[in-house]
Amino acid sequence: VNIVKNICCLGAGYVGGPTMAVLASKCPNIKVTVVDIDLNKIAAWNNQNLDKLPVFEPGLDKIISKVRGKNLFFSNDIEKSIKDSELVFISVNTPTKIKGFGAFYASDLKWVESSARQVAKYASGHTIVVEKSTVPVKTAELIKKILKSSNSSNKKKENSFSVLSSPEFLAEGSAINDLINPDRVLIGGDNEESIKKLCAIYENWIPKEKILVTNIWSSELSKLTANAFLAQRISSINSIAAICEKTGAEIKEVSAAIGSDTRIGNKFLLSSPGFGGSCFQKDILNLVYLSRYYGLDHVAKYWENVISLNNWQKERISEVIVDKLFGTITGKKIVLLGFSFKANTNDTRESPSIDIAKNLLENGAKLVINDPRVSNKQIELALNQPSKEIDHNVEGIWYYEEDILEAVKSADAIVILTEWQEYKNLNWELISKSMRKPSWVFDTRGIINRREIDVTPINLWTLGKG
Ligand code: NAD
Ligand code: UDX
Repeated sequence: VNIVKNICCLGAGYVGGPTMAVLASKCPNIKVTVVDIDLNKIAAWNNQNLDKLPVFEPGLDKIISKVRGKNLFFSNDIEKSIKDSELVFISVNTPTKIKGFGAFYASDLKWVESSARQVAKYASGHTIVVEKSTVPVKTAELIKKILKSSNSSNKKKENSFSVLSSPEFLAEGSAINDLINPDRVLIGGDNEESIKKLCAIYENWIPKEKILVTNIWSSELSKLTANAFLAQRISSINSIAAICEKTGAEIKEVSAAIGSDTRIGNKFLLSSPGFGGSCFQKDILNLVYLSRYYGLDHVAKYWENVISLNNWQKERISEVIVDKLFGTITGKKIVLLGFSFKANTNDTRESPSIDIAKNLLENGAKLVINDPRVSNKQIELALNQPSKEIDHNVEGIWYYEEDILEAVKSADAIVILTEWQEYKNLNWELISKSMRKPSWVFDTRGIINRREIDVTPINLWTLGKG
């Protein structure tokens, strides 16, 4: 096989950036160019100050500083990058549609389609197009049609294309490690020559036996299925956490007990304020939409319940908070610790913190929000409400506070929503002294050492503990 020497990646987001950084570092002989229609994002990827990269991932800055400008480039020149490449990854966003047919279920494929059109327009010679975005089953067909029609409309060009699916399984916060040591990579397609070329790229650092080759529809469906199964485990454990609270059982003990059954496995059994992130909900909704489309109503309902339990979880936590604070939180100061959807990422997409914050604001709370990686501005966008210094006459307002000891002054409650390391060893004795009494701590991640709180007057509520 001829070896691929030039790769272009469309989309410089949470997937495109880290994935191509690792690929470039493992394949020094391949030139990798990441492009985006968002010029500011490309500028941020090129920022000399590595703290200003658009994506925060542990270890990413080190890799970027090693390969950027050598064989990894971030560029606005989409035309040239596609033209110069034998292989193009599509890593663009595929969010849930918010209007039109399939709204709130189907994935919006307009960015995948525009990517395919760009490739059709600018490619030269034979180009392998690889879907890395998560897409509904049969999307490869759409891409093939667009590429083919461009060929027939442009007689001068002697182009040819093959389309592969190679979905990405990285999780945010551990992306670099996931990319360097994946459990598997998946390649779906039927063009043997192209599959060999993509395999050869992955084989630079991934053992052969971890590279699975399937037909293209299995590959597309496997990505949706993996996320649906993972999310289902969280809804399952969260449903049991609610039973624990009623009965005196403890979710951590139950998780450990069932997780030691090797058939169940011990990962992904942490109860939480609900799963967030840009993938789980979107991909399940997509699966539900597909099921309905194929007339499989029972299947659709089955998966839809995973989301409905997740929504209930966020609602239920908000209700517990109001209930414990004597049934009203109007005008009360509540500190939210954590706004990203999980630790070690600056991503807030679908974060449970958003829904819980909105619920509390609607009930008149005065929120103080802290997160080690999420900025004031990002929270304003997520809540769709500007931050405002505490005004004693106004209810339902929030502001950002970097200093936790400052944030908790005269607060009625603290709610831990993200499992950041920073929140695991707080000085509860000191905090308790500056809170208003009776004071409450709501630990929705089960990360607090109960003994340290027990010696203070604080009341502690822990998710999943009866
Ligand atoms: P993102 O929004 O962070 O990045 C996507 C980027 O693509 C954006 O910067 C956007 O401007 C750019 N883009 C859109 N259309 C373009 C075009 N025609 N040409 C060039 N650039 C274009 O999204 P993400 O989180 O990186 O996700 C990308 C895909 O990967 C999605 O399908 C997602 O489901 C999937 N995925 C995401 C994760 C994750 O953890 N975030 C993990 C696995 C798979
Ligand atoms: C997920 C998949 O794990 C990854 O394979 C896929 O490529 C993209 O979607 P991500 O959303 O980045 O990755 O993070 P993940 O670690 O899966 O966490 C998702 C949500 O589930 C977070 O809100 C997290 O807090 C929550 N979660 C995770 C739990 O509530 N309990 C757990 O045991 C694990």
